[in-house]
Amino acid sequence: MMKLLPLTLLFAVNLVSLIQFLSIDFVSSIEFFEYYSDERDGLLQLRDSVTSDANLHSNWTGPPCISNDSKWIGIACSDGHVVHIVLEGIQLSGSLPPTFLLNITFLAILSFRNNTISGPLPDLTNLVHLEHAFFSQNRFWGSIPLEYAELPKLKAMELQENYLDGNIPPFDQPSLTIFNVSYNHLEGPIPNTDALQRFPSSSYDHNSGLCGSPLKKPCPFPPPPPPDVSPSPLPTPVNPEKEKKKPLRLWSIVLIASAASLVPVIVILFSLCYYRMMHRKEKTTENQAEIEIAARSESIDDFQRRQQELEFFDKQISAFDLDDLLRASAEVLGKGKLGTTYKTVLESGTTVAVKRLKNMSGLSKKEFVQQMQLLGSLRHENLVQIISFYYSKEEKLIISEFVPNGSLFELLHENRGVGRVPLKWETRLSIIKDIAKGLAFLHQSLPSHKVPHANLKSSNVVIQQNFHSKLSNFGFLPLLPSRKSSEALAIAKSPEFAQGKKLSNKADVYCFGIILLEIITGRIPGEISRVDDDDTTEDLSDWVRMVVNTDWSTDILDMEILAAKEGHEEMLKLTEIALECTDLLPEKRPKMPQVLQRIEEIIEQKRREND
Ligand SMILES: *[C@@H]1O[C@H](CO)[C@@H](O)[C@H](O)[C@H]1NC(C)=O
Ligand SMILES: *[C@@H]1O[C@H](CO)[C@@H](O)[C@H](O)[C@H]1NC(C)=O
Ligand SMILES: *[C@@H]1O[C@H](CO)[C@@H](O)[C@H](O)[C@H]1NC(C)=O
Ligand SMILES: *[C@@H]1O[C@H](CO)[C@@H](O)[C@H](O)[C@H]1NC(C)=O
Ligand SMILES: *[C@@H]1O[C@H](CO)[C@@H](O)[C@H](O)[C@H]1NC(C)=O
Repeated sequence: MMKLLPLTLLFAVNLVSLIQFLSIDFVSSIEFFEYYSDERDGLLQLRDSVTSDANLHSNWTGPPCISNDSKWIGIACSDGHVVHIVLEGIQLSGSLPPTFLLNITFLAILSFRNNTISGPLPDLTNLVHLEHAFFSQNRFWGSIPLEYAELPKLKAMELQENYLDGNIPPFDQPSLTIFNVSYNHLEGPIPNTDALQRFPSSSYDHNSGLCGSPLKKPCPFPPPPPPDVSPSPLPTPVNPEKEKKKPLRLWSIVLIASAASLVPVIVILFSLCYYRMMHRKEKTTENQAEIEIAARSESIDDFQRRQQELEFFDKQISAFDLDDLLRASAEVLGKGKLGTTYKTVLESGTTVAVKRLKNMSGLSKKEFVQQMQLLGSLRHENLVQIISFYYSKEEKLIISEFVPNGSLFELLHENRGVGRVPLKWETRLSIIKDIAKGLAFLHQSLPSHKVPHANLKSSNVVIQQNFHSKLSNFGFLPLLPSRKSSEALAIAKSPEFAQGKKLSNKADVYCFGIILLEIITGRIPGEISRVDDDDTTEDLSDWVRMVVNTDWSTDILDMEILAAKEGHEEMLKLTEIALECTDLLPEKRPKMPQVLQRIEEIIEQKRREND
């Protein structure tokens, strides 16, 4: 059938999708485009689970092989088969998909040298042609799979400078001429095989638990267990039959154990991640950063030695520890005055948001723990859930639920111009209601707090599926000892703060009013007043006055919602609420429960009219 199609047509339609459409496994008889779709699928699995400097996503498209050539970075081909995968020093991070190589059976060289890949080493079964395997200078953990010792053509294996543990399998390939496992956490005797005894001690150095020749360190007596025992030290019960067939690796046992205790959290987080994957398929950031960078000066070992533990609110979900967190790949979500927030993907696949607080070195452990416990105990559908925290003198982390779709600020103000999808009025209305519900709940739950949220602004409203919104970064005021340090918070923009007056929860109401105006007008708070004059009033009252001048009308509405004529009345009613909330005098502003009630009434009325 394919042969009947003219060649030009084949090139015009995307050949790959055509072939997938026809579901032909082995690709074409057209010589110049020969490749194997199973191999391509394997590479795409890799492409889609890691991030790097090289932006594989834009480069690894189309066919991986064109006979003996490849247009893909790091790939070399022979007769349509992928034979080299060489991705060195491109800050590849994330963990490798466990079985992506199984179908790339002609692979001869595999190199991931000098990256930041974490997680277990990949499965190399089937790779009977593999000669060079370079995994050095990464963050691989877990044990060296036993089947590596079975690779028939192996000439070189570099595993140095990782976090590998367990024993060294009994490599004994006569072809083996390069072997290095130094700088890991391996243990037990070096197997007494001809191949392994050929290498100098520098191939094995810096593994505190390794012993035996060629190291100078003799093994303790009685002799340790034979090397063909599964290296996993974990007592987790594993189906013995299964284990005989193919030993589970440490990482998979850990995964199973933690999965069992984490099911509810994983279900939630997984669906969040999945949603994000579907909706933001390709958001490569330049901001690939590793939390670890921050902790570099203090190695993971040091952390362990000090036995610092993460505190969890629910002991049930303490399925990861600080070590996992430090090893996880992380991406900067935002840098604020209080610290930097990272999206962190743990090796278990769980995604969390981690905030590293700054300028809080004066804070005592007791104060911090008390406040975190209080905040962690709050549960509401419109509040970001705090999962855990970490306190040391130098480092304070808050780990919370990761909400996938960015912030309200991004939603309102980013990508303005051509190609932007307008934010509909109905959506804005439901976001307003979510914010009001979250804030009313905070005011009710934290009556002893001067200003319960204290940092309400559009960048601290995060968006989930169906634009369901949650408040984040709340409850920080008690952590900030002085008025000066409180300037980092959103309430600093209220008139009473600017005038040095007493603060109350009406400062939150003020911030809520500002968000309302921001949603209705589509303008960034503070932006126009800065253009008009350069006086340095801190508060936003001028902005409010300027946005809503004396005879305010539909002129103020965001262009994007102006067309939704049937909504104008609601928009103007909400503007009225916003003006009350931003009254210069705190005591004249309404209370949050009242505000929420009025918003719900507006929505209810709209519903009735639509019915
Ligand atoms: C991938 O990048 C390489 C080197 O930059 C380039 O030669 C090649 O054409 C790119 N391939 C694709 C499919 O864009
Ligand atoms: C591809 O390279 C192999 C050897 O490396 C050679 O035998 C084969 O003829 C080449 N194929 C093409 C189409 O050039
Ligand atoms: C490792 O890769 C980085 C780029 O990510 C490069 O600057 C550095 O020189 C490489 N180091 C070695 C030892 O190759
Ligand atoms: C390898 O290819 C086979 C046959 O197409 C497929 O069924 C299998 O899922 C592939 N395995 C992996 C790990 O991709
Ligand atoms: C093994 O790797 C370490 C660290 O990169 C290096 O110092 C050592 O010289 C290497 N040994 C051999 C035999 O290659």
